[in-house]
Amino acid sequence: MAASGIVRLTDHHLGALIALEQAAFMPADQQSPRSLRYLLVKAHADIWGKMQKADLLASIIVLYRRGSEVARVYSIATDQCRRQKGLGRQLLRHAEQAAATKGCRRMRAEVRENNPASRRLFEHAGYDLIGRLPGYYPNGEDGMHYEKQLTAIRSGAAHG
Ligand SMILES: CC(C)(COP(=O)(O)OP(=O)(O)OC[C@H]1O[C@@H](n2cnc3c(N)ncnc32)[C@H](O)[C@@H]1OP(=O)(O)O)[C@@H](O)C(=O)NCCC(=O)NCCS
Repeated sequence: MAASGIVRLTDHHLGALIALEQAAFMPADQQSPRSLRYLLVKAHADIWGKMQKADLLASIIVLYRRGSEVARVYSIATDQCRRQKGLGRQLLRHAEQAAATKGCRRMRAEVRENNPASRRLFEHAGYDLIGRLPGYYPNGEDGMHYEKQLTAIRSGAAHG
């Protein structure tokens, strides 16, 4: 495990990832176990986890599209008991470095309008609000669309 405690999650971490997902998100926003498994083993994605020994404290899922220079934060979650200690910021930075190393020039994220913790995480990490996505979520809530240029991020700092 790297000194940061951040590791690339694999199918061995599926149980821990499901548990974190179910604890961190309301049911409507949870990925199904099947979907998480697909993301871990088949998708064009990076899933990073912040570990403390065998415990998964936080995770981030980043999706890539072939031929695109834009990566997307699909999900980020920190265990309830570990929030506001900088773990989300640390994982986000790691994911940005990994995406930059792959040649991505921008990272995007969609966030519920009514999710101040997540909005502050992205805004304080240097993301610009590039648009509003009306009715983006199943309950009709608007999404806030954020983007960060990765070109200033030194590549080669993240390892799988
Ligand atoms: C959003 C989330 C991942 C943030 O994780 P975290 O580990 O607590 O974040 P950090 O401790 O790194 O905080 C990052 C910044 O956001 C701010 N922040 C975090 N939670 C906050 C809250 N509840 N209210 C206000 N600000 C908050 C921190 O103060 C920090 O600001 P700073 O840069 O000025 O220091 C976490 O709240 C979470 O898991 N939420 C549920 C899942 C979710 O909604 N995910 C986002 C959509 S995919």
